[in-house]
Amino acid sequence: MAFQLADPIKSLPAPNPVLTRLLDALDNSYTSADQICEILESDQSTVTRLLSVANSAYYNMRHQISSVQRAVVLLGVEEVRSICMGTVLMAFMESGKLQDAQGAKSLWLHSLAVQEAARIIAARSGVVNLATAMTAGLLHDMGWVVIMAFFPEKWALLKRLTGHEKMNPVDASIHLNEWHQEAGQALAGHWDLPSIMLEVMSSHHEPSLESTHFDVTGLISLADNMVCAMGYDGGIYPCVEETPEWLAQALGFSEEDLTVCGMEMESRFEELDPVWSKIVGTVN
Ligand SMILES: [Fe+2]
Ligand SMILES: [Fe+2]
Repeated sequence: MAFQLADPIKSLPAPNPVLTRLLDALDNSYTSADQICEILESDQSTVTRLLSVANSAYYNMRHQISSVQRAVVLLGVEEVRSICMGTVLMAFMESGKLQDAQGAKSLWLHSLAVQEAARIIAARSGVVNLATAMTAGLLHDMGWVVIMAFFPEKWALLKRLTGHEKMNPVDASIHLNEWHQEAGQALAGHWDLPSIMLEVMSSHHEPSLESTHFDVTGLISLADNMVCAMGYDGGIYPCVEETPEWLAQALGFSEEDLTVCGMEMESRFEELDPVWSKIVGTVN
């Protein structure tokens, strides 16, 4: 039951030029805050969304944040970066026909949570660059976005499979994983994303020790599992997959590492939830 995206993918929109430039810039650790500002300022809708999120009650700033530079100074590059990537991708999603706004919001909450979980795990492991881990976390399930926004009939079918017409959960997981990873792979190819992102988008449910970017794909797989187990499952999966023991071991993670990361995730998720709600609130 392959998903067959080869032809329809050609009708997907070209990558947002701001996203492409942001990804390139963030890949380079010498990129300055000024350069990020310059990229963002070329896209007014991203700036508007960034400032709206930055001024949300969560940040509790005494003065209104009215420029990208000010947002970078007050919030930090990492925070600005994560808000911007989220809003740029959100704009992509809105360019499709979104018939399931609630589904879209659940999916975005999941992606934002995996982004934060990936940052926490990468900081603890010290092996993967934080920015790479965060980008990979945010993008890992873009295949779902493609299906939801551009193949609404397939999305409706998936919802039925996981809803009333319950498939055997194991069979359902296999099909769902296969379909959205295939869609993610097609999108990464279409957008010419870096090979790390392509591997993450196409293999995060079956990371292989032999793959070129196992350090990142395995890390995202671990983050994805932990986030789903904490209830941010994107509203799609019929069952929570257990984190395989070999995966944590291959990443050099002990029981204690997992516990510490899990606790940090819980407290950060609580803190970030209002910001995330603000970001996903922009989905129509
Ligand atoms: Fe996934
Ligand atoms: Fe996921």
